[in-house]
Amino acid sequence: MEVVRKSEEIKAWVRKQKASGKKVSLVPTMGALHAGHLSLVSIAKAHSDAVILYIFVNPAQFNDPKDLEKYPRTLERDLELARGENVDVVFAPEAADIYPEGGGKLSGTCHVRAGNRSENFEGDGRPGHFDGVCTVLNIMFNIVEADTAVFGEKDYQQLQVVSQMVKDLQIPIEIIPAPLVRDHDGLALSSRNVRLSPEGRKESLVISRTLAAAAEKVSSGERDARKLEQNAIQAVESTGRVKVEYASIVDADSLEPLSHIDKPCQFLLTATVEGIRLLDNIRLKP
Ligand code: PAJ
Repeated sequence: MEVVRKSEEIKAWVRKQKASGKKVSLVPTMGALHAGHLSLVSIAKAHSDAVILYIFVNPAQFNDPKDLEKYPRTLERDLELARGENVDVVFAPEAADIYPEGGGKLSGTCHVRAGNRSENFEGDGRPGHFDGVCTVLNIMFNIVEADTAVFGEKDYQQLQVVSQMVKDLQIPIEIIPAPLVRDHDGLALSSRNVRLSPEGRKESLVISRTLAAAAEKVSSGERDARKLEQNAIQAVESTGRVKVEYASIVDADSLEPLSHIDKPCQFLLTATVEGIRLLDNIRLKP
């Protein structure tokens, strides 16, 4: 497995792959890899001949400098895990290479403004977050010129925001969704889970269980989205240790809220346990 730090080098690498007729896919990450990230690699492999995993903690998408500072950086371990998955090349650039001007601050530089799927949910209270995500992905797509890129449904809104950007800006790349990967007990895998105490982790299972119960109710005929949302909030908060930030049933593509479930849609639920934000979601199939 090659490890490349410079954008000029990754450009040359991609050129070589393409010259030999290979299809190239990109797996964007911020590192601190876990099995959720690694599942994206196997999906990328199934869709292409050469897989680039990029690891870049993107300053432009953090509102809080402390959060950026605290973000786990575990490059050596990440490289081991990537090797284990037979990734072809890891691209791990320096911020100065990705943002030659402005050091990752968007103001003053030319950047992307995310579309309406970025409003609400993760967009609430994190102004500019999705602009930062879209901007870094645009830069990466321009550097790498991959045929496909894989994004996890774990960050369901991000997947829709990125798909909207690619469509609206006619970026020549295919976005491939990857199913959410859960731990053995149902908890959605996330780099943040390690910060939960054993007790907090146990409490957090109410989130995935509540979503699974909602999906079950929809399969057996429930169509009232408001009722499902209210019941979910009550169930999740019943222990007193988990606080719901939002629980919304939305159109699976536009992310518009639905009141009557008459088509497949997505139930987005984000809650806080011990001050840690946990994102989860599930498909509802009437
Ligand atoms: P990061 O949080 O590192 O996630 C990288 C990718 O892994 C995203 O597509 C995310 O949805 C996916 N992922 C994380 N946990 C997952 C799980 N349990 N199951 C399936 N997929 C999972 O998302 C980002 O980084 C950044 O915003 C990025 C897109 C790299 C732009 O900076």
